[in-house]
Amino acid sequence: MPAGPTVCSDPPPVVDGMRHIISIRDLGRDRIDRLIAEARRIQAKEFDPAALKGKIVALLFFEPSTRTRMSFEAAMARLGGTSINIGSVEVSSMAKGETLADTIRVVSGYVDTIVLRHPKEGAARLASEFSSVPVINAGDGAGQHPSQTLLDLYTISESMPIEGIDIGLMGDLRYGRTVHSLAHALSLYGTRIHTITPRGLELPSPLANELRENGTEVIENEDITEVIRSLDVLYVTRIQRERFPDAASYYNVASSYRITPDLLEGVRPHMIVLHPLPRVDEIAPEVDALKYAKYFEQARNGVPVRMAMLREVMQ
Ligand code: NCD
Repeated sequence: MPAGPTVCSDPPPVVDGMRHIISIRDLGRDRIDRLIAEARRIQAKEFDPAALKGKIVALLFFEPSTRTRMSFEAAMARLGGTSINIGSVEVSSMAKGETLADTIRVVSGYVDTIVLRHPKEGAARLASEFSSVPVINAGDGAGQHPSQTLLDLYTISESMPIEGIDIGLMGDLRYGRTVHSLAHALSLYGTRIHTITPRGLELPSPLANELRENGTEVIENEDITEVIRSLDVLYVTRIQRERFPDAASYYNVASSYRITPDLLEGVRPHMIVLHPLPRVDEIAPEVDALKYAKYFEQARNGVPVRMAMLREVMQ
């Protein structure tokens, strides 16, 4: 496997009057809490459906996406704004060799906000340096995924206060950008983090060290059976096949864990199971009907949360 991704090297937030959201570290606890509270008001239908009338967002997605792209699009539409897409990369000028920096310079002249997903870690930060409008990172390689973290926290807060919970982060914590963002945010809420990973897919050590330096207890596990009974939240992730250097190293860990109804016997009654989706085989479909399963609700929460984000960066 290649050297682990660097997840702690974010420079400080760009302070140029623009409210980029590149890393969860750009937000801080107050801004996160404000966005969650705003999403809750939006969910309760307390918002102006013409708040972003006349505004345009560019959705630049250079990696597959269903939920993130469509929920940003739905969010923009619900606030009266418009979205434009780059379409497939093959028909854009990137196919002619245009750099991301040039594409961003040009597109930011057309729109009011850019939402970017890119396979390279650091791409969103780079884009923010060339953009004349706010950039929201919708996932940069194995780096960060701050809008997912906000909807994860929002979903937890719908079931219980986030402060002080015991949360299990399970699966591919090495390449999973959702957990890289989420783990940092959780460290702002005095939570205890239990990691459950196949060998080789542990949290990158710079991130684990940062969490511990922030005073967060990080307890590593290879097996779920014992720890599952002491969790308030279990956050399951997919093995990020596309980020593995070769097929053999993926197949070494593929299908090495699976949440089943049997495994959930005896868990805390209020425990919830989250997953950023898409799922492959890490949660059995029989779990979907159990009271613990909150991942489809979590995906739905992407719309009010992204509405709150879009409004915040454009107002
Ligand atoms: C995640 C992503 O793209 O990082 N998906 C999402 O945005 N909900 C998780 C994944 O692809 O496994």
